[in-house]
Amino acid sequence: MLTSDSLITYFNAFFIFARLTLAADDEYTIGVGIADITGPITDINIMGYGKADQDASGLHFRLYSRAFVIIDSVGNRVCYVNNDLGMISTAVKQEVVKRVKNKFNGLYHEANLLLSATHTHGGPGGFLPYVLYIALAQGFNWQNFEAIVSGIIRAIERAHTNTRKGKIYYNQGELLDASINRSPTAYIQNPAAERAKYKHNTDKTMSILKFVDSSGKPMGVLSFFAVHCTSMNNTNKLITGDNKGYASMLFEKEMNPGSFPGKGPFVAAFANANEGDVSPNIMGPRCINTGDRCDIHTSTCESKEPRNQGFLQNEKCIAFGPGSDMFESTRIIGNRQYKKAKELFDTATEPVKGPTSFIHQYIDMSNVTIVLPNNKIVHTCKSAMGVSFAAGTTDGAGAFDFRQGATKSTPVWNIVRNFLKRPTPEMEKCHHPKPILVATGIMKRPYDWQPQIVPTQIVQIGNIVIVALPGEFTTMAGRRIRETVEAEFKRLAPSLKPHVLLAGLSNAYSSYITTFEEYQVQRYEGASTAYGPFTEEAYRQQYRMLAEKLITKQKINPGPSPPDLLDRQISLKAGVMFDGAPRGRRFGEVLYDVKPHYYPGNNVFATFISSSPRNDLKTEKTFLAIEWLNPKTKQWVVVSNDANWETKFFWNRTQFLLGESLATVVWEIPKHTEKGIYRIRIFGTSKNIFQKFSDYTGVSSPFKVMAPLHS
Ligand SMILES: *[C@@H]1O[C@H](CO)[C@@H](O)[C@H](O)[C@H]1NC(C)=O
Ligand SMILES: *[C@@H]1O[C@H](CO)[C@@H](O)[C@H](O)[C@H]1NC(C)=O
Ligand SMILES: *[C@@H]1O[C@H](CO)[C@@H](O)[C@H](O)[C@H]1NC(C)=O
Repeated sequence: MLTSDSLITYFNAFFIFARLTLAADDEYTIGVGIADITGPITDINIMGYGKADQDASGLHFRLYSRAFVIIDSVGNRVCYVNNDLGMISTAVKQEVVKRVKNKFNGLYHEANLLLSATHTHGGPGGFLPYVLYIALAQGFNWQNFEAIVSGIIRAIERAHTNTRKGKIYYNQGELLDASINRSPTAYIQNPAAERAKYKHNTDKTMSILKFVDSSGKPMGVLSFFAVHCTSMNNTNKLITGDNKGYASMLFEKEMNPGSFPGKGPFVAAFANANEGDVSPNIMGPRCINTGDRCDIHTSTCESKEPRNQGFLQNEKCIAFGPGSDMFESTRIIGNRQYKKAKELFDTATEPVKGPTSFIHQYIDMSNVTIVLPNNKIVHTCKSAMGVSFAAGTTDGAGAFDFRQGATKSTPVWNIVRNFLKRPTPEMEKCHHPKPILVATGIMKRPYDWQPQIVPTQIVQIGNIVIVALPGEFTTMAGRRIRETVEAEFKRLAPSLKPHVLLAGLSNAYSSYITTFEEYQVQRYEGASTAYGPFTEEAYRQQYRMLAEKLITKQKINPGPSPPDLLDRQISLKAGVMFDGAPRGRRFGEVLYDVKPHYYPGNNVFATFISSSPRNDLKTEKTFLAIEWLNPKTKQWVVVSNDANWETKFFWNRTQFLLGESLATVVWEIPKHTEKGIYRIRIFGTSKNIFQKFSDYTGVSSPFKVMAPLHS
């Protein structure tokens, strides 16, 4: 017989059971956070194009880290962090993990923390621990590394301390006019039957996760769309988040009215996916010398110069975006991603349901044995880059232009070329048909040139499965991974029917991954597929295994540890020695002042006596402010800062030995700007010969913004 006591116990147990299994299955605890990760904005190579002389000399807009903490109903958590960076490096992930483990008592670790990157080609470099990726960046840059690592941790901390109950919704849709395939002659090598499954030669689907709290208030959005962040080309010298950074800015501005970029509660992240062969320069490549089409197989143009008549030049074949210049192209491609994400956000109704989980393993990509479907046994290879790697792409020609003597013009190359190794005959055979240019897998001096051990990871939030890819998978290579993971769920958890999303450029960087078929024609992406023709098969095998173990909840070993290369890093860029102002002048003084009045749409310029922006990165602050005089209060009110699209901060070293420099602020007066009195202010920190830092500020004369002219 049931006593009332045991009845109560029984009911309690039932309710706890019900809460764990039924009622709470679409309820999560969610936190979002954003933090500034802008590193040095001058005297540093811009990461992405591998162009030795593309050093930064200013800032268009700031770079951010955007974190999402998701805790399921029984307390399991995952943390997704998307970053305005070219990629995540092993060193960044390892250091973030080391520090967050201590800070949060092990709540966040290697396996439940996923770091991804937008792939902006407008951020400062020098944060990758392998020689190949910093050879053009004057070595490792500790200041940038620290700005990135500590910024990511601030974003995680903000998400962690702001968690509240909420729900997640999924939505997807097609974005057709923001991407093209930049290696269609490689894509076409894939089997016809496989290509026939898809309408397009790039993935046009944008997927989004919408985060709302339990009162229905929007908290954030995390979108995935495959496209290179190369709207800004390799002549750009300003630090920028490119098209995805701008898309984030637009979404956050809409949801955080009145807030400055990076300061509002709503966080909008635009992550990448299988973007390896996907360009935002949708007008496609053409010859800049003749206006003709480029040769489609080699992406070259015939020289018309009398001396080189008929010579094929890759640097003359350039792809252009939809805009009339690269800023406008960035604006258009960013706006299209924002608009689609916002539309999907507004119409998202499919709830995400189920527990969170994760799995992570390092894999030695230089030595994977693969059994092909026909039972043939093949292997991956020690890493090497092929000759076409040096040719670059139509988004940015000539990664390493040996012909023009890049070995002479960059100091790291000078040091390391003495260690350049001849590939072994086994390597040549293993990588066939790739002709090896740099045998990175056997180059250990001054330290490792390219990773051999890379992280693989899958993070699951109920019916959302996110595959973290440690490099740039081409469209078809990514599709194969996605279908492999989907197939494992179909086989082992058929009722779940998850959405499988790809997070490109996550946790580490190992260049490109093409399919076996694409590899055969050795376009840039094939030449940069580091572990040989079966690289993609090896990853497919690995992610199939990870998916199986994740679904069946089996423990796996962590895999081999990547080397910790941080204490081996070499920095070749000298620090700031000291700053000087010209005789009789002071820091912050206006050298070229504004004009008395302007109209909306005009550009306002002011140039100031400046110091090196490397003295203080103004993290979470600003190098400049556009101030408006409130006529009622007579107070100056900041209306725009260095993180806004409409401002640009240019910096110039004018006198090297005396440490003199100039800063020029440009404000492109937005169309809707109220008429009134404005001025430009700068903030700087100078360093004197005794190495003492002093903050200073400078202001332009006030100027009038007139009411728009109506014609
Ligand atoms: C970069 O873009 C600018 C327009 O903003 C264009 O004039 C220039 O030719 C482009 N250069 C390259 C190398 O893509
Ligand atoms: C490659 O992996 C096999 C096991 O799959 C192992 O026996 C062999 O020692 C490895 N070779 C190297 C060079 O690490
Ligand atoms: C930087 O210096 C160069 C040459 O010294 C000059 O042409 C250019 O206008 C300067 N730019 C700025 C923003 O001061």
